[in-house]
Amino acid sequence: MHVCDTPPDSGYVDILTSIFKTGKQDIMLKVIQVKRGDFRQDFVRLLTFIITIGILFPMSWYIYLNARSLELTEKLLYDAIGDTKVVLRNIKTFTTLPNLHMNMQNNVDLNPTLHTGTKKPVEQKQEDMQQKYTGWFSESFHFIINNEDICKASNESIDILIMITSAPQNKLSRNAIRETWLTHTKMNKGNIRYVFLLGESPMTKELEKENLHTKDIILGNFKDAYNNLTYKTLMGYQWATQHCRNAQFVMKTDDDMYVHIPGLIRVTKKNAKALQTAIGGSCALLANPIRDKRSKWYASFKSYPQTTYPGFCSGTGYVTSLNVVTKIVKTSKDVPFFHLEDVYVALCIKKLGLRLHPIGGFVLAYNFGNCTHNDNTLVTVHQVSVSMLKRIWETPCTPNKV
Ligand SMILES: *[C@@H]1O[C@H](CO)[C@@H](O)[C@H](O)[C@H]1NC(C)=O
Ligand SMILES: *[C@@H]1O[C@H](CO)[C@@H](O)[C@H](O)[C@H]1NC(C)=O
Ligand SMILES: *[C@@H]1O[C@H](CO)[C@@H](O)[C@H](O)[C@H]1NC(C)=O
Repeated sequence: MHVCDTPPDSGYVDILTSIFKTGKQDIMLKVIQVKRGDFRQDFVRLLTFIITIGILFPMSWYIYLNARSLELTEKLLYDAIGDTKVVLRNIKTFTTLPNLHMNMQNNVDLNPTLHTGTKKPVEQKQEDMQQKYTGWFSESFHFIINNEDICKASNESIDILIMITSAPQNKLSRNAIRETWLTHTKMNKGNIRYVFLLGESPMTKELEKENLHTKDIILGNFKDAYNNLTYKTLMGYQWATQHCRNAQFVMKTDDDMYVHIPGLIRVTKKNAKALQTAIGGSCALLANPIRDKRSKWYASFKSYPQTTYPGFCSGTGYVTSLNVVTKIVKTSKDVPFFHLEDVYVALCIKKLGLRLHPIGGFVLAYNFGNCTHNDNTLVTVHQVSVSMLKRIWETPCTPNKV
């Protein structure tokens, strides 16, 4: 019994106790440390969560939105680079200075109507104009110069009607086009027909004179202005539905374009079915309005409050069926005016539940000294001056006479 009173190993027990105690303390300490660690981890997690939700999410959303508008900016930049390349190529191609000067002059001066240029300053008027036309687009056009018989000139069925938006002062461009790629239309009597689309200006009398010989001008009762390109296009579409119902397809392009008609015929045949419910060309399926006032494609919040466009097919050249054109003309009465004509057409397409249909061959710059276009993959080339147009036409390796 006394054995227990005097524990023989009291020292051992002490050690055990102390070990136990320190062990317990260690464990407690560890528990506390673990708890602190947990807390720290939780805190870090919470912080990460707050940062993610509070900062990263809006930031990535912002970046996402801007990236989408950047896409368009990138496209514009790409166009600008393309244009620079064209000029550089001209410098290489044209060895004599007067030619070069002429060419650059043409690039700058002869094509003020286009959606495709890069250097045109935004007119102050644009904002006013946009504010003025926020109502529904309900124009029904009256033709001051008309050529009702263009599509009736023979019994041939018409494959494609080409509508070329032009500015009154661009007679040289019109003549250059008539003498080059429009020769495919056999003086507007073959299965490809064409018209030039213009508006009213002090030059209307001169245009009447020009039309006496060429019989290819349609001039509508609205003021000819860059920001009225939507009027010009819709006027052309209206004309097509009234006077060219026997056309299968309708192509819209500008007067600084080279259109390779054999290529155009090829793509319309190949995409015939799709074009019954779509508009085709160089189409961006995602695009945002540009809110930078310096941009040529500036769209004020007032003129276009939404954050995205329904995409669009570049106004440099797009093609669709007469079927779709007829629907666009009808639905345009319910689509508010918007000054960027290709976006406006896309808005109509969206309202109709139709589609944008990207087609290859609508390119930026023509490659001189290369005959890769012989295979008819080319459809359009944009930003082509009068002298460049003639040069493309006369370069022996081009497939223009195919
Ligand atoms: C078109 O068809 C009508 C009747 O079929 C005919 O009288 C006329 O001569 C034809 N015109 C041309 C240009 O072929
Ligand atoms: C567009 O045309 C309409 C109708 O002729 C005219 O009132 C308006 O001022 C024109 N827009 C511009 C920017 O000139
Ligand atoms: C012509 O096109 C081919 C193939 O696309 C390319 O490799 C070549 O560099 C081009 N030549 C010129 C002169 O641009």
